Amino acid sequence: MVDTKETKPLGSQRHLFDIPRSISYFNGAYMAPLLKCARRAGQDGVTRKSAPWCVQSSDFFEDSEIVRSLFAQIIAAKPDDVAIIPSVSYGMELAASNLRVKPGQRILVLAGQFPSNVYPWQRKAKESQARLDTINRKDGESWTDAIVRALDAQVAIVAISEVHEIDGSLVDLARVSLACKAVKAALVLDLTHSVGVRSVDLRSIDADAVVVSGYTWLLGPHGQAYVVVPERHHTWRPIECHWMARQGSEDFVRLATYSDVYRVGARRFDYGGLANFILMPMAREALSQILAWGPERIERAIAPRGHMVRTILADAGLRVESSATSASHLIGARGAGDASSLCEHLASKQIFTSVIGDVLRVSVYLNNDNEDISRLGQALHAKQVGCVKSSQRVA
Ligand SMILES: Cc1ncc(COP(=O)(O)O)c(C=O)c1O
Repeated sequence: MVDTKETKPLGSQRHLFDIPRSISYFNGAYMAPLLKCARRAGQDGVTRKSAPWCVQSSDFFEDSEIVRSLFAQIIAAKPDDVAIIPSVSYGMELAASNLRVKPGQRILVLAGQFPSNVYPWQRKAKESQARLDTINRKDGESWTDAIVRALDAQVAIVAISEVHEIDGSLVDLARVSLACKAVKAALVLDLTHSVGVRSVDLRSIDADAVVVSGYTWLLGPHGQAYVVVPERHHTWRPIECHWMARQGSEDFVRLATYSDVYRVGARRFDYGGLANFILMPMAREALSQILAWGPERIERAIAPRGHMVRTILADAGLRVESSATSASHLIGARGAGDASSLCEHLASKQIFTSVIGDVLRVSVYLNNDNEDISRLGQALHAKQVGCVKSSQRVA
């Protein structure tokens, strides 16, 4: 049973992952390691698929309803507003194909944001004879100020994230949400790098769609993501016309009695193939563990680790975004010269990070402990990126 009331500080949770001691994994923003319980659930799913005579028709729906409800709890949304989808691009396509944009209007995206939240808007702008505008920050400016500065009555849609996936820089979503309302612009969010790792409460943000990948901070498998669609948009046209989205589909005997009526709420936007006996139980276990930890406790536990990693990177002569304007779990370090060669150097020491453009991206999560952090410091020191002080310790 999930205990969401637990408040004790979280220490390293490395024991719940299968990460050899020789590996320091700082790359959750690229792909989370699977929890052992999620891996077991996937393996059990494969075994179950080998014995289909044991599968009941109710099994096609049960796990997806549990997953829907667990995800909704993590993000403080209503389960009826949640649809389960295969990817962020799918959720963005749902929003792009339903939101209205008139010729000459503008769609705003942030410079450098993830392509699954850019390509659908490029197409939408082209098809609507609208303009896609990329927001850049001026020196010292926050993303929030840059977005508000770009907003005017011509903006139809703002499609952004809260945590920038390159360097962890933050957007104040409550402020942007209000500013969008003031000019009647729709707000579409990719909260892939927020949900599960930061405390997110959708009740303070009035978004038209919120899309979240399942395989990063939600510790799930590829092929599973989520979209929150508020009730006012439950009449949107789904991407697919599949049988599981229709009312009465639980009754397999009546499958050929076609229905025009959708299942309740945002379920009409679920992807076809929802009854995935392997992915769904994996997601169920991962989301249950996240809720048992609690997103707020996760965020609090990561903060000191993030601070140490940030200090190590800065001591090594790299430039990192200020902790006041960026997330603790995703740190972008600039100024390495060739970031790819630094990333390769770290990988040769079994320390895994990633690179986007010229930014070395270091993710910090509950699998990282003191030993990982001091190994990172030593490896940067050995590379003589700068002068490293790696004496900090986490609880
Ligand atoms: C910000 C962001 N959005 C979305 C995704 C995944 O997109 P998709 O599910 O379309 O592959 C990622 C993957 O790393 C990401 O970093």
